[in-house]
Amino acid sequence: MRDLQQHSARPHQTRLREVTMTTPTISTTRLASRASELKGSVIDASTALLASQTHDIVRFAMGAPNDELIPTEDFGRILGTAAEGRFGYGASEGEADLVDQIVRYQASRGIETSPERIVVTTGGMQGLDIAFKMLVDPGDGVIVECPTYTNGIGTALSYQASVIEAPMDENGLVVEALPDLVENFGKTPKAIYTIPNFQNPSGTTMSRERRELLLELAEKWDAYIVDDDPYGALRFEGDEVPGFLELSPGNPRVIQVRTFSKTLAPGLRVGWMELDPSLRDIAVNAKPAMDTCTSVPMQKVVSDYLAEGKLDEHIDWLRSIYRERKEAMTQALAERFGDDILSTDPDGGFFLWIDLQGKYSGIDTEELFPLALRHGVAYIPGPAFTDSGSQRHSLRLCFATSSPERIREGVERLGTALDEFAEQRRGTL
Ligand SMILES: Cc1ncc(COP(=O)(O)O)c(C=O)c1O
Repeated sequence: MRDLQQHSARPHQTRLREVTMTTPTISTTRLASRASELKGSVIDASTALLASQTHDIVRFAMGAPNDELIPTEDFGRILGTAAEGRFGYGASEGEADLVDQIVRYQASRGIETSPERIVVTTGGMQGLDIAFKMLVDPGDGVIVECPTYTNGIGTALSYQASVIEAPMDENGLVVEALPDLVENFGKTPKAIYTIPNFQNPSGTTMSRERRELLLELAEKWDAYIVDDDPYGALRFEGDEVPGFLELSPGNPRVIQVRTFSKTLAPGLRVGWMELDPSLRDIAVNAKPAMDTCTSVPMQKVVSDYLAEGKLDEHIDWLRSIYRERKEAMTQALAERFGDDILSTDPDGGFFLWIDLQGKYSGIDTEELFPLALRHGVAYIPGPAFTDSGSQRHSLRLCFATSSPERIREGVERLGTALDEFAEQRRGTL
């Protein structure tokens, strides 16, 4: 109190300087133990890094639909008229008309649901946060895919989960490996976090057999499956694989996290959870302490867009664009790299995953990154998708945001960076 009075008697500039100079460092012992578990996101940091670059860069890093693929005119029209009078607070569980549209949308995709099973969320991220908030006590085990969407596991870590990384192959999570991992961990997990369709970052899809086995294991372990599926609607090739709730209708162990971020636009921040009514009430209780409610005008934008019947057509259009872009990327990679990389070949979504091999084997993709950026191409290095820092010789490429010509250009630039890095490495041996 005395200090404050003294300061307030001094000229403003001195005060500012003094305050700045005497600001005490925060003692970490006074922070909650969970503070050290709050990890920043390398994935999100790449957006800021790229924004600060002034040269031409082919952006294979972030996974978001780019502006020309977002129906901004429709959104603007709806926001300008239909959302009038909708700028107040709304119900925690979501606006009734959006919930109704979600039920219809799911039914159109052959998925039976009902309003009692739905909570509107502020993007998929909030669905994950609510799911792990409900499930995780400090030290509880959560099985996660390796590699995985680390922002997702960041929510579990923030509730002090112990993550158990499980391997992936071309059929998604290697579910057969889980019993041994659980035995080593020493107790059964509370949850298994999976991205079953066109996984971020690998692009792979979990096979039906593995989904069935995972349902069995969840039952045996009394665990929940946190099924995070932002990309499932964006299948452009191959046959649908039935979802967990189609294989096991009404199974209360399945918590579905969904979002309109990839099918419509991430800036809307509108998603939803679909879960057993008993859990849904808990999720609704968790939400007001986080954000009171999801933005009401943005919910209106989505519900009216759906009510106008435009989403199916929009998704069909996206699928055709993403198919073309994925083909451009796999073809360019095959031509440029041959057997010196191993690439996944996804049937949908945004991403493919590359393991460096042959003349590039052993190259660390984090070390390569600055050189790639200098050559005008951005990707996300493999370790950004792990808790352990593994996957050092792998990287994620997003094919969804660039035209086929830019994709070919970006792959060429990646090749130049890899060749130069390999050359320099040879020089230092
Ligand atoms: C697998 C996965 N889950 C969740 C999210 C987050 O979705 P949202 O932007 O709707 O919060 C993303 C976004 O990239 C994602 O890839």
